[in-house]
Amino acid sequence: MSNTNDSKSNIIDGRALAKKIDERTAKKAEKLKSEGVFPKLVTVLVGDDPASKMYVNMKHKACERIGIFSEDKILPESTTEDELIQLIRELNSDKEVSGILVQLPVPKHISSQKIMNEIAPEKDPDGFHPVNMGKLMIGDEGLVPCTPKGVIYMLDEYGINPEGKKAVVVGHSNIVGKPMTAMLLNRNATVETCHIFTKDLKAETITADILIVGVGVKHLITKDMVKEDAVVIDIGINKDETGTHGDVDFENVSKIAKLITPVPGGVGPMTIAVLMEHVVLCAEMQMQK
Ligand code: GUN
Repeated sequence: MSNTNDSKSNIIDGRALAKKIDERTAKKAEKLKSEGVFPKLVTVLVGDDPASKMYVNMKHKACERIGIFSEDKILPESTTEDELIQLIRELNSDKEVSGILVQLPVPKHISSQKIMNEIAPEKDPDGFHPVNMGKLMIGDEGLVPCTPKGVIYMLDEYGINPEGKKAVVVGHSNIVGKPMTAMLLNRNATVETCHIFTKDLKAETITADILIVGVGVKHLITKDMVKEDAVVIDIGINKDETGTHGDVDFENVSKIAKLITPVPGGVGPMTIAVLMEHVVLCAEMQMQK
């Protein structure tokens, strides 16, 4: 029998949850400031990619809203790897800087991994440093990648405990798919990670109680690929002339999903909320040093 979910009752509201997290972060920031500690994020953008500029702008607006200081460093496309490393070292030793975020992607002549390795682990609100990634792998989740952490917060908020569930993650990037897999495993889900080389994607996704997709392919996941009553989390952001679309065919998949995130208004706002939370966590960690 088909259990068709209609109306908006099965939609996960990322904006509302992000607002709740922001309020909690603002209170923490306020308390730190009253103790003489001023959380501050420095973003570094190399080049003038319009999408990256927009994302960095959103991060500064969030800082302003929450009461976190922020500084925007914009470097020309021609910046060398050594120059960028030099800047990061200066920021690492600047006591007024709590968190450093280098917006990705960086230009091709710069190794993003070398750059991530340079950021002091306790000043890494993105959670991309190998030390922070390594800690995540052994279940020590402090500064972890923001997007998958945001997904975990959503599952928590909507009462979805991954323990014992079959979770399928589509996408194996270092900043989303791999850490998402680790976080679900840390919560005792049975996890499968699919990617571009997966032979039969539908055969895998159809088995998921929790399906999480982040590959950047508009409407890759169609209704026939999703088990009825699955929880579906869409991390994709695909912009075209008709608007912003996820990796999931929301209109049709939402008819059978137990819960589903919209795009926009789903995971996107959560990523920034977690980033803000992490800047405050960085400030707290440095205070305790
Ligand atoms: N580019 C796309 N997503 C991200 C992110 O979460 N952090 C950084 N630094 N760059 C990105």
